[in-house]
Amino acid sequence: MSRLKYINSKLPVLWHGGDYNPEQWAPQVWTEDARLMEEAAFRVATLGVFSWAKLEPREGQFEFGWLDEVIERLAERDRYFILATPSAAPPAWMARAYPEILRTGPDRVRRLHGNRVNYSLCSPIYREKTRDMARRLAERYGGHPRLLAWHVSNEYGGEDYSPETIAAFRLWLREKYGTLEALNAAYWAAFWSHTYSDWEEIDAPGEPYGETAVHGLTVDWKRFTTDATVEFMLNEMAPLRELSPEVPVTTNFMGTFPGLDYRKLASHLDFISWDSYPAFVGPLDETETWVAAAFKHDLTRGMATEGRWMLMECSPSSSNWYPSMELKRPGMHRFEALQAVAHGADGVQYFQWRQSRGGQEQYHGAVVSHGTGSSGRVFREVQAVGRELDGLAALTGSRFQAEVAVVFDWPCMWALDAASGPVQRPKGYERTCIEHYRAFWEAGIPVDVIGMEDALEGYRLVVAPMAYSLVPGFAERVERFVTRGGTFLTTYLSGWTDENSLVFEEGYLGPLRRVLGIESEELDALPPNRRNRIEFTLPGISGSFEARDFCEIVKPTTARVVGAFGEDFFAGGAAVTVNELGTGRAYYVAARGERASIQGLLREIASEAGLEPLVKGLPEGVTATCRRGEKGSWLFLMNATSQWQAIQSDGWGEVALAPWDVRVLPLNARQGPESSAQESEKVAPAP
Ligand code: GLA
Repeated sequence: MSRLKYINSKLPVLWHGGDYNPEQWAPQVWTEDARLMEEAAFRVATLGVFSWAKLEPREGQFEFGWLDEVIERLAERDRYFILATPSAAPPAWMARAYPEILRTGPDRVRRLHGNRVNYSLCSPIYREKTRDMARRLAERYGGHPRLLAWHVSNEYGGEDYSPETIAAFRLWLREKYGTLEALNAAYWAAFWSHTYSDWEEIDAPGEPYGETAVHGLTVDWKRFTTDATVEFMLNEMAPLRELSPEVPVTTNFMGTFPGLDYRKLASHLDFISWDSYPAFVGPLDETETWVAAAFKHDLTRGMATEGRWMLMECSPSSSNWYPSMELKRPGMHRFEALQAVAHGADGVQYFQWRQSRGGQEQYHGAVVSHGTGSSGRVFREVQAVGRELDGLAALTGSRFQAEVAVVFDWPCMWALDAASGPVQRPKGYERTCIEHYRAFWEAGIPVDVIGMEDALEGYRLVVAPMAYSLVPGFAERVERFVTRGGTFLTTYLSGWTDENSLVFEEGYLGPLRRVLGIESEELDALPPNRRNRIEFTLPGISGSFEARDFCEIVKPTTARVVGAFGEDFFAGGAAVTVNELGTGRAYYVAARGERASIQGLLREIASEAGLEPLVKGLPEGVTATCRRGEKGSWLFLMNATSQWQAIQSDGWGEVALAPWDVRVLPLNARQGPESSAQESEKVAPAP
């Protein structure tokens, strides 16, 4: 696995490029495209993502000549390429010859050829075919001087209910539990007589026909799907690793996509990339869209070896799958691109280069849109971004540092979603994590998004909202972290179950009780129209805030109450507590408060933990991040609103930001890569 500072030192600049599908076009267009790419400062073309039918038009008949020619056209114009394995879309001939390669839906019906990501996860024939194709690509292109990276498949995802995948699931369970007794115990199978007496009795869970009442099984199925996807990916990666060990490998993630625990895939990749398509226009709170994008960037970076990641896809204008195809307003595209860089990305790429004339995505935004060539607004904005990224080349390989971590954990989200209570409506795990993240985003305090199994050392503050199901050892690690001076915060609906969705014998909060210094007695789930109140008694946050959805009744043992409920039969009882343990503190928030209460509380706690914003007094909707590297440190100021904003900074005086503006300011040379995030607060202009 590559340990280099850059994604690939062949091109040590911020990569600018995107998906290019030359198989849809005639050779004369390839020549024109390479010329236009040069004009657009578009340096990297991702090839081959959906090219199987062109690479192997009939079984065993391989045609690489056209791809050689495309690569030559690109090289003549000094362009580079990323090469994908085409496994996301098997060709029609293969589906006809081997129907068992196709995916089976939860209705147990084998699908017909069509669409994409329509393959069986565990089909031996498809595994053989995808490995063979990857080998041929590696043999032919693995040593190409213009090849920057391998892009395995495209957006892995989805569950497969084919007989071979279900058989693999049974084997997976056997390996995990060893005996049926252990499995039955983990699934609390005596309930409703769900006890298994033979492995063959177990089927995949889920609607419309399967089991939905055994939550351990539901979560295991998702864990298995992740592991089967990892196996599928490793199978096609193997020849790439073997024949071109120097070429870094990635696959494109989809942010918080709930179908896979991306952390398990990430550990096999040299750098992480993801496809970001926020709904830019039209939301009631536009800042929320950009905050969610920032959260996903930080989540992606958190999974990457040494923080190496890039934006693999974004739309240069609109996306055809939105309810309405609203255009990105002038400046929004620049914001989106630089926002990714501000969060550590070493590249910004698009889907796609040239807009298709037909097919599902003929109206999806593209750099070269129907009929406009290089004269369109979108092309010119992309070109300006490309040139700006070239100007920021010194940032490549620099890193983002954070002393705050927000925990977002896939298995925890799955368990919470599967639980048949305390509400039947969505419980809002992701939204709640983002809401807590937002408090730091608004304050200009950098954050890492981590999983429950990640190390806590090195952070001053760790926030784990709705940590419903705990991985073994998490509570112990939290306790060590707090004892040694860390600050920890968690909320309602935390520590209810172990990793098998079994409620802790000692009750809610389970092994977190000691560090939090409280016991949890009951939780009141409020209907959407009911409210309670939280009255804070902390110095930095006073007043009364609305609480909704979840209000938990907790009893402090060693903790102090710093917020009380204002209404109902538990008025006056603990709503927010803090427990001191060793040299650290652990906070508990027993109710879902309105945004202002989360923001006020987290700012107070952050300042108590010695965390300072990168820039003080940022106006609402404006944030700051920082990247540090050998060639310098840079402060990013970002205006995620459609209004002009002004920032007062010690070093630069007043900085005016136009709507969706981003300013990249070099920091004083004194603040080298070793300095802590704290020091960067002393923002000063470069000498
Ligand atoms: C995804 C896919 C692309 C394309 C875009 C459209 O990210 O990877 O192939 O379909 O969506 O938004």
